[in-house]
Amino acid sequence: MAAAQRERWSSRSGFILAAIGSAVGLGNMWRFSYLASDNGGAAFVVLYLAVTAMVGLPVLLAEVVVGRGSQKSPIRALQHYGGSAWKPLGLVFVAAGFLILSYYGVIAGWTIRYAVIALVTGFGPEVEGAFGGIAQGWDAFGFHLLFMLGTIAIVAGGVKGGIERSAIVLMPLLFVLLCGLALYAATLEGGAPGYRHYLQPDWSEVMSLEIFSKAAGQAFFSLSLGMGAMLTFGSYLGRDNHLPNETLMIVGADVGVAFIAGLVVFPVIFAFGLADKVGESTVGALFITLPQAFASMGAIGRVVGVLFFASLIVGALTSAVSLLEVVVSSTIDGLGWTRRRAAWVMGAIIAALGIPSAWSTNFLGVVDTIANNLFLLGGGLALSVFVGWVMDDPVAEASVGTSGIRWFGLWRTLLRFVAPALLAIALLEAIPSTWQAIVDLF
Ligand code: PHE
Repeated sequence: MAAAQRERWSSRSGFILAAIGSAVGLGNMWRFSYLASDNGGAAFVVLYLAVTAMVGLPVLLAEVVVGRGSQKSPIRALQHYGGSAWKPLGLVFVAAGFLILSYYGVIAGWTIRYAVIALVTGFGPEVEGAFGGIAQGWDAFGFHLLFMLGTIAIVAGGVKGGIERSAIVLMPLLFVLLCGLALYAATLEGGAPGYRHYLQPDWSEVMSLEIFSKAAGQAFFSLSLGMGAMLTFGSYLGRDNHLPNETLMIVGADVGVAFIAGLVVFPVIFAFGLADKVGESTVGALFITLPQAFASMGAIGRVVGVLFFASLIVGALTSAVSLLEVVVSSTIDGLGWTRRRAAWVMGAIIAALGIPSAWSTNFLGVVDTIANNLFLLGGGLALSVFVGWVMDDPVAEASVGTSGIRWFGLWRTLLRFVAPALLAIALLEAIPSTWQAIVDLF
């Protein structure tokens, strides 16, 4: 079969917005805030920022470089530069796409459900019990399906007409919503301790290897790294993008949104005296505490609640699209399927894989732990070794579209030594607790 012309972004900003759309999602709002509040607040934030700069940024550039250079979906891209021995890593990437989207869709389903509640009835005082009711079972599955339908429809629409077009509308919307919410949070009385918890690090906690490992996992999840999503988006690029600048913008936007989300979540939680509740349920933290806060705000709580959950939905949708795109692009390239068929069939399989997560938040939590600790950290480790040591001349490919960058040498050093070392430490640290979580589940 003659290779059809590869799909392309229509403009530079199309790629940047879609990549930001992939990065910014539930990771920035739901995951970041529950991890930060569980692991020493600002102490966690400091480690997260450090890992993002030293490992996340170089690995992001590496992924996009492999994608653009090869013009192929993950499995073939790795084969292109490394030979058949590297194909299995591509398969692991695709498997991660299946795994992550299966539970990501369930959480996104909760956010749709919550937006509907906020809009139609408002939150009552009994939200804590309500979360248990909607988080697991047919309700959870139904809203997961709804979310998956939206995701599939966008991916079936193609790179330009679906993915890029949705990101161009949704990303600015999310940003405006979130900034408005942060400003509102600043007017709350009693929010000051929330800011303190969030922004004043307790240095004794920063020194823990366990928190470092969680911060690394979060940095990778939030930047969509270690499973080929950014690689796939990079494969739709032409030769004139300035990749170093663009990766910087993507990281800046992702960190910025996580930071602003924290400026919403922490003051609200503290202003309504819910700080000690957050630690009780990790996965559900945001879904239990925030609605309680919205409930006690009265009428304005409904407006704020709708806006908050709407921005979560928006973020989740553009991220889910990139997860599905990894699977779909591989199916198109590997099996010769049409985009529509690949999107609907693979999307349906992933929706079905979400069933256990829809019926058990414990199961969901464990899959999330496995995906991050093993797949993303392991995938990131393998990819940095690949680009640092196996790929012939990554600097030449990264330089295309730039007029030569002085710190490409530093980039290569980070990829060769720093990223693998730090990721290996994070991975080794995470393996026992991940194993324990799996054992506990059964
Ligand atoms: N980065 C997304 C988020 O923060 C999640 C994601 C992970 C998307 C991996 C694609 C790949 O929500």
